[in-house]
Amino acid sequence: MENFTYQNPTKLIFGKGQIEKLSEEIKLYGKRVLIVYGGGSIKRNGIYDKVINELGKMGAEIFELSGVEPNPRISTVRKGVKICKDEAIEFLLAVGGGSTIDCTKAIAVGATTEEDMWDVVTKKVQVEGALPFGTVLTLAATGSEMNAGSVITNWETNEKHGWGTAYTYPKFSILDPENTFSVPRDQTIYGIVDMMSHVLEHYFHKATNTPVQDRFCESILLTVMETAPKLLEDPENYDYRSTIMLSGTLALNNMLNMGFRGDWATHNLEHAVSAVHDIPHGGGLAILFPNWMKHVLDEENAPRFKQLAVRVFGVDTTGKSDKEAALEGIDRLREFWTSIGAPSTLRDYDIDESTIELMAEKTVVAQPEYGRYKILTKQDSLDIFKASL
Ligand code: NZQ
Ligand code: ZN
Repeated sequence: MENFTYQNPTKLIFGKGQIEKLSEEIKLYGKRVLIVYGGGSIKRNGIYDKVINELGKMGAEIFELSGVEPNPRISTVRKGVKICKDEAIEFLLAVGGGSTIDCTKAIAVGATTEEDMWDVVTKKVQVEGALPFGTVLTLAATGSEMNAGSVITNWETNEKHGWGTAYTYPKFSILDPENTFSVPRDQTIYGIVDMMSHVLEHYFHKATNTPVQDRFCESILLTVMETAPKLLEDPENYDYRSTIMLSGTLALNNMLNMGFRGDWATHNLEHAVSAVHDIPHGGGLAILFPNWMKHVLDEENAPRFKQLAVRVFGVDTTGKSDKEAALEGIDRLREFWTSIGAPSTLRDYDIDESTIELMAEKTVVAQPEYGRYKILTKQDSLDIFKASL
């Protein structure tokens, strides 16, 4: 493994009823609080009322930005930045899933600068600072609650980019599995695919001697695969929701990838699909990941794919070449995702050949090549999209 420094400053507050810690956490930062949330699920499931009640205890002055879209938009970020500046906001509280948290991260940075946040997202300018913010997570998926990443979409240019800074870690995140009981079946499935994809992105790296990290990754995949079908049968089961929630956080808080950087080509491909078609992130990953695997699999890297096939998918290697065993593992991943109801082709979202060229262009907007395990170009994007139709 390579040299590394690990630091994750986010305080994780996990479990039933932990919302009662909200006011004592926010008190440390100020009273003028902007609550950021999505399309209204938190009003329907009662989380909004709990948050308002807690903020009341500390005498907070409450401001609101609602309507953050799944695949949050730069236009909404700009709205939030304006509120922060007009109202001298001191603390931001994201209440929602990855989209709400990502949008809040961008608002937090935008509030401290005169730069336009799209220039920050596209890395044209750097900003050193952000307003403090915390999160109340309501959907297990992205890991945004304990990382510094944020993914923002620009509908004027059909671009969706990830970015992050040392300032965009939440100060705290409250994870109450009960807050995910109301997540609909499809979003629960997308979340499961997303967290598994994060582990898989880590898993395909070029460092040597990573046995601890490998087994961390494998244990999360095995646990999620064991729990997901039970959770889908019993969506208000606290233990299953807890297991999935913790898995989602651990999958992308940079603990699994100590000492190496993973591949992340499939995320780049998916962000291009979402940027053009606004599909759910996890749905796109379910379609693309097995096809990325088949595209990059070769004689040299087959042993790594075989290790995954054997340890996670229980593939019997008797009489099979490494590549055959690897391919069987990839098929089992596809079968698992299909078995829980994830999509498997772009046509499941009515995407056909007509936009493949455009999506492939989007994969190389930021840089002409991408992916670390195997370096890919626009032609590879075209091939993977065609295989995904
Ligand atoms: O908007 P509301 O009404 O709240 O409804 C949301 C939304 O429609 C709903 N939902 C969330 N919690 C709920 C609930 N419905 C009922 N009960 C609850 N408790 O679920 C829908 C999807 O929410 P969203 O936040 O969009 O989902 P997710 O957490 O999957 O986030 C996806 C976004 O995160 C980005 C994705 O690209 C996408 O834009 N990612 C962020 C990452 C990061 N920051 O580290 C990494 C990921 O790889 C990913 O790219
Ligand atoms: Zn993801």
